Amino acid sequence: MTRKTKRVRKAVLPVAGLGTRFLPATKAIPKEMLTVVDKPLIQYAVEECIASGIEHVIFVTGRRKSAIEDHFDLAPELESFLEEHGKSESARTVREIGGDLQFSYTRQSVALGLGHAVLCAAELVGDEPFAVLLGDVIMASPAPATRELIEICDATGGAGAIHVERVPRERLHFYGIIDAETVESPGGGNAAWNDRLLRVKNLVEKPSADKAPSDLGITGRYVLPPEIFDYLAETKPGAGGEIQLTDGLCRLAAAEQLYATVFQGRTHDAGDKLGFLQATVEIGLKDPKLGTQFREYLRKLKL
Ligand code: UTP
Repeated sequence: MTRKTKRVRKAVLPVAGLGTRFLPATKAIPKEMLTVVDKPLIQYAVEECIASGIEHVIFVTGRRKSAIEDHFDLAPELESFLEEHGKSESARTVREIGGDLQFSYTRQSVALGLGHAVLCAAELVGDEPFAVLLGDVIMASPAPATRELIEICDATGGAGAIHVERVPRERLHFYGIIDAETVESPGGGNAAWNDRLLRVKNLVEKPSADKAPSDLGITGRYVLPPEIFDYLAETKPGAGGEIQLTDGLCRLAAAEQLYATVFQGRTHDAGDKLGFLQATVEIGLKDPKLGTQFREYLRKLKL
């Protein structure tokens, strides 16, 4: 538990999925580019990377996903146009989309599951711990979700870390559910996650309510040691030829190298239509420019 770990500098954002739950919107537009208030979904995840101290974002893309690459590329013509027309604030907004991040892109030619998508980034990640953020999940909290996991990875000498949340019984079969035990935080300390650290003993992907080992479901943020690539490479494809990330996580758990913490913020699964609408309403209500008017509008809405 005391091995010296490398710093988490890289984040993998898998965006190669087909987005079938959002058809027809996602026939030509990547799901991750659907807009919540005034930003595409994927930008929320990239902003979390910046706030968490990530330096290099690796997108795992597929066909019809080039809009994501364009969104995080420089746009000198657009910036000059905006400056020349007195729209300096908009020019700054465009310029600052990717912060100081370095971006790399790799392809998952066939959407063979989240585990397979992560494995596609192995070469770009190399031999160091890294974060994984699901681009269609927005996690809003005072302490950025990924930063907390990086702290846990550091404190545990390089173990994996995931966020979990309590899931209602009727929704357990949508999640990876953990079997875990409470552990003392290694080395004490006063980090916010200290008194809610769990060691994961096992995970079950999408269990029925009677087979679920707990009500704690994985929500879409991970920090993983590079060994996960070996585990995923050895994983046999399951139903539909997919390689699930959960299978690699089970191997980490078996080696006592996976920790979890119960997320203390608000998660929006915006890859789901209802979750997307809820995200739009809640983030719209918090918007400094629109919030007051939007609240007024919702109050007056005759339902
Ligand atoms: P989802 O399961 O929510 O995305 O995966 P999906 O498969 O695109 O959605 P539906 O179910 O068909 O509507 C979570 C994230 O993982 C990526 C997706 O792009 C999404 O951002 N993903 C999923 C991949 O990159 N590759 C895959 O093979 C599967």
